Amino acid sequence: MRINYETIVKDTDPKLRNKSKPVDLPLSPKHLALAKKMLRYVKDSRDEDKAEKYNLRPAVGLAAPQVGEFVHIIMVMVDTEDQEPMIYLLANPKIVSHSVQQAALKGGEGCLSVEIVHEGFVKRAARITVRAYDILAQQEVLIKEHGYAAIVIQHEIDHLNGILFYDHINTQDPWALSENMLVIE
Ligand code: CO
Repeated sequence: MRINYETIVKDTDPKLRNKSKPVDLPLSPKHLALAKKMLRYVKDSRDEDKAEKYNLRPAVGLAAPQVGEFVHIIMVMVDTEDQEPMIYLLANPKIVSHSVQQAALKGGEGCLSVEIVHEGFVKRAARITVRAYDILAQQEVLIKEHGYAAIVIQHEIDHLNGILFYDHINTQDPWALSENMLVIE
């Protein structure tokens, strides 16, 4: 069955706060099928016709808990200056190092699982190094990212720990800048 916006687990469901488990490698057929389903959702959600036909809300990323599978698989697809978007389909991603400098998206963040707008800076590391198993390349990889891609990867990894973007917003002063923080347009 296809993932669609209806089947995405929302934050009104306490299950989304579960901590997920790493997957065995190489991936089992079940986990491989899950990863491919997640890839298809994100890809198709960016195609206007398919998004309408299958009730998909546009996404730049998805984590397995959002489709009710509490395992360490994430998908990230972000536009680059090249024609082709950058795709990460990762198992067991782990942030092995990150910058002290923080970064946040100028307009805050959103999430397929969150239907209410939560305004404010979501402060994350500006640069990260992630160790993961690249499902498409079928090998262990070390990924260094900064900017928007780094933000999205951290958002998706948070889902594996039951953390949602608005957990990071300063409720006292949502748009407070931190010293030396990068604001990403
Ligand atoms: Co999300």
